[in-house]
Amino acid sequence: MAYDLIISGGTVVGPDGTTVADVAIRGETIAAVGPGLATPGAAKTVIDATGQYVMPGALDVHVHLELPFCGTVSSDDWRTGTRAAARGGVTTVIDFAIPYGEQSLDDAYNIWLERAKPKAHIDYAFHMAITNWDRHGKEMEAMIKRGCPTFKEFMIYASEGWQSDDRAIYNTLERCKQLNGMLLVHAESSRVLDELIARRHNPDDMKKYGAQLHAMTRPNFIEAEAIQRATMWSEATGGRLYIVHMSTGEGADIIKAAQARGVNVLAETCIQYLVIDDSVFAREDGHLFACCPQVKKPKDIERLWKGLESGEVCVVSTDTCSFTKKQKAMWNGDWTKIPMGLPGLETMVPVFYTRGVLGGRMPVTRLVEKCCSNPAKIMGLYPKKGTLAPGSDADVVVFDPQKKIKVDYAMMESGTDWNPYQGEELAGFARHTFCRGKQIVTDYKCQEAAGWGQWQPRTLA
Ligand code: URP
Ligand code: ZN
Ligand code: ZN
Repeated sequence: MAYDLIISGGTVVGPDGTTVADVAIRGETIAAVGPGLATPGAAKTVIDATGQYVMPGALDVHVHLELPFCGTVSSDDWRTGTRAAARGGVTTVIDFAIPYGEQSLDDAYNIWLERAKPKAHIDYAFHMAITNWDRHGKEMEAMIKRGCPTFKEFMIYASEGWQSDDRAIYNTLERCKQLNGMLLVHAESSRVLDELIARRHNPDDMKKYGAQLHAMTRPNFIEAEAIQRATMWSEATGGRLYIVHMSTGEGADIIKAAQARGVNVLAETCIQYLVIDDSVFAREDGHLFACCPQVKKPKDIERLWKGLESGEVCVVSTDTCSFTKKQKAMWNGDWTKIPMGLPGLETMVPVFYTRGVLGGRMPVTRLVEKCCSNPAKIMGLYPKKGTLAPGSDADVVVFDPQKKIKVDYAMMESGTDWNPYQGEELAGFARHTFCRGKQIVTDYKCQEAAGWGQWQPRTLA
């Protein structure tokens, strides 16, 4: 037989258009895409995808699985997180390997690999966090040679031991220019942020405002000033910069203006910044929604959707960093103690599809551009990932464009006991997900595939 599997008659979605075609898979790769492949006897298995969308597996290039953070460990581990991913149509995740204390980049890589390898259901890679420039700067070249060309610096989180100062960011960007690497930056300006937090960190304000203080102490200029500063260092050095989880309209304006001047800077946003606004913090369970940066105002949401259309927002990711209600309860009325982060892997594509495509904001091709082809290209995995083309990995998702499923954390794969979209009817959950030819999701149900996922070496274009 010519093929192992043919997904026949579906509407194949790429970034530039859709076409009705068959997708033929041999082993772990796509063998052919086109009409008329599903002739009798051509494949061991044929899946009829008539009336369904067939798209490349999405890449979520910003996740934190079983991350030690905020005095606890994020509740989606490499098993629940990658199962949730597969159910949400994601077939590759990129996590952040973070060295603690005296650890090297190599130490962090090995620790992350040890956690991921036995549990991952889908493919994965790591961005390497630089938490000590004087040590890690010297290790960048070896990491790039190994296949980890992207680095991460945080402008906040001094208490975690992760914070980078301007010197580290400037030096890292300069080194990225020399080595063809890329620096990802969490852009929030800690100098003023710490002051604004200190002013409100008293029993009266905490009693009065509760979780709303999270938004009240992080006005938009906290992110915008930090993006501006990092962008200046990118402009000065020529080093490639990628702003993670951009949440503000001002940030999008800065990126657009910098790109127009030819600065080597890109920006992603996360799905929560496109659909949730900061009114949630007034809810009784508002603290559950706390992440850094926090979700912003409706006008920021509008600006970010516009940025997806005009291009200055090039990727949608999740920043998955899940915590259970018990973990979130550690805040005990003090917003500075909330474990920061949200679950997202299982719902990113469904929320993007339902609110973005069915909501009339954009065509389905843009979903594939922002969640598949762009992240694969930018992170050095294209065309192995992010496209349905002969020779590419057989990472394929089939979904029904109309079938809506009510979000209920109790029925989901994610390791949380709540969900930001609880009760919402969403279309776009994967009916079938294949990762390198292996079926991970069958009729909306995740199969056992721990250890199938493989670490992916990357090279930037
Ligand atoms: O609140 C968040 N985003 N938690 C994960 C860590 C980070 O800043 O990305
Ligand atoms: Zn961050
Ligand atoms: Zn993050």
